[in-house]
Amino acid sequence: MSEARITWISGPVLRATTDDVFHINEAVFVGANRLLGEVIRIEQNTIVAQAYEDTSGLRPGDTVHGDGMPLSVKLGPALLGNIFDGLLRPLTRELGDYVQPGMKAPPPQVFEFAPALQAGETVRPGSVLGSATGSGGLSQAVLVPPHISGTVVEISGPGQYQDEQTICTVRDESGAEQPVAMSHPWPIREPRPVTQRLPTSRPLFTGQRILDSIFPLACGGRAAMPGGFGTGKTVLQETLSKWCDADIIVYVGCGERGNEMAGVLHDLPALEDPRTGRPLMERTLIIANTSNMPVAAREASIYTAVTVAEYFRDQGLRVSLMADSTSRWAEALREVSGRLGEIPGEAGYPAYLSSRLADFYERAANVRTLGGEHGSLSIIGAVSPPSADFSEPVTTHTKRYVRVFWALDSTRAQARFYPAIHPLQSYSGDIGDLVDFWQEHNHPHWPEQRRRFLTLLAEQTRLERMARIVGKDALPPRQQHILLCAELVSDGFLRQSAYSEIDRYCSPARQARMMQLLTRFIELSEQAIEQKVEFERINTLPILRRLRRMNEDIGEQDMEQFETLRTDMENAFAALTKQVPGRVG
Ligand SMILES: Nc1ncnc2c1ncn2[C@@H]1O[C@H](COP(=O)(O)OP(=O)(O)O)[C@@H](O)[C@H]1O
Ligand SMILES: [Mg+2]
Repeated sequence: MSEARITWISGPVLRATTDDVFHINEAVFVGANRLLGEVIRIEQNTIVAQAYEDTSGLRPGDTVHGDGMPLSVKLGPALLGNIFDGLLRPLTRELGDYVQPGMKAPPPQVFEFAPALQAGETVRPGSVLGSATGSGGLSQAVLVPPHISGTVVEISGPGQYQDEQTICTVRDESGAEQPVAMSHPWPIREPRPVTQRLPTSRPLFTGQRILDSIFPLACGGRAAMPGGFGTGKTVLQETLSKWCDADIIVYVGCGERGNEMAGVLHDLPALEDPRTGRPLMERTLIIANTSNMPVAAREASIYTAVTVAEYFRDQGLRVSLMADSTSRWAEALREVSGRLGEIPGEAGYPAYLSSRLADFYERAANVRTLGGEHGSLSIIGAVSPPSADFSEPVTTHTKRYVRVFWALDSTRAQARFYPAIHPLQSYSGDIGDLVDFWQEHNHPHWPEQRRRFLTLLAEQTRLERMARIVGKDALPPRQQHILLCAELVSDGFLRQSAYSEIDRYCSPARQARMMQLLTRFIELSEQAIEQKVEFERINTLPILRRLRRMNEDIGEQDMEQFETLRTDMENAFAALTKQVPGRVG
């Protein structure tokens, strides 16, 4: 085992001299407590490492031992339903309850293994070996890990085994025998291989109208969610964890204040999966790295999270990864860089901030797995720019790697307009891929209607500025009409409370009905204005109140009320246009 001696320590960063061979990103164990760390730089006889645990008490002369392996985490059936630190060491549900110093991986756990094949069969990476069932009764696939293929020499019969125990031996082409267990290690900074990356084709459906209908994210896509303090990032991440139609949720709480993370740790495990009625935690895994935990572990945590997410993707599952917040992660990167004495770039961040963000976001994909299944990994990263300034480096660099941008706006949040996503600062580059989805849900005119809504909202901003100068009543009827339609779209459609029993989730069918209804209102009212109906008479139609409130009044259970509303609306406009003086009805 390679060995080095510490010469210098500053917080989580240390230098050590050695005559042995170390590698970049190699895991190391530091000092008598064998604190976990990673080699981040090598200069002749000196290595520089970052420690993932509190280094107080370490002194020059203490030893550093190389692991011979890159920093890795243990992937296997023991992950789901649990809470881990940034290096996938189990945490109990009480925060502040630290892992034991020097502890490397979760202790072995027992699972019921049921083989799916026999000795003599050939396997390749991704082949199904069998299933592992834990004490909770949840069954997960056990696959042949990447890089192993050949003939099965021996496979265990059904029974209870520890997850690290060999349950199968595979003889490869060279004749060497490879042991396979239910769990295997994987280096966190190395993307897991796939057969093929596929184009995205369907949305990650979230049940949130402003996302699905206006700024949709494709399954396997990447989204950023920047917003100042209190604009609703955490609430939105939690809402997505609960309602998005992924099979698996990986939630990484990265450096947010302890009490906020405690909220998530308390909320998520208590929630019920709305689709199955089972605990949401069964398909969720939380990685918690609050600001009171060691800074370097925070840097590693998002790679750990994406590695775990890829592991489930490789099982042919739809995975979504929520990171809250990538700004706290970038600050950890900055702190370590500062300790290394690197030349600071914009706002003190190291020059490699951008490429590190790319390393993370580029691991989102829609793929054909090694086993030939279809899996996807979508990444949604929250960004908390200081003073909500979107021109700061983390936001601007993130923008280069995401196709979907959900800009949370402080003014909207202050007005308690939720979700506070600003319709003019946000965008989605995934629209073209998703037309078929809406077509299948009887919403063939989705792209036009969406564009129509966005045009209205853009005009609204311009007209409101004008109205502030000349007064709203001084605007010509057509412009007052635009303002009215935009308000209806905002209140009746975009606004959606995460806390409303009726409205916190909106199905594709309900989204389509609401959008169609509002579009019909826009058409009818436009025709009325053309036929010289006074704007004030449209503006005082009782139907407006019902349209404005339909999100809260008409739930999933009473969809037929949309039809009633539509008939009443058609009749109201028919009555208006009939009564225009001088016109023959
Ligand atoms: N979608 C929403 N529906 C209803 N209320 C919301 C929503 N989003 C945010 N809020 C309100 O705003 C508060 C702050 O949100 P939070 O997610 O903690 O902000 P951030 O993480 O951006 O600092 C929440 O406690 C909640 O009262
Ligand atoms: Mg937050």
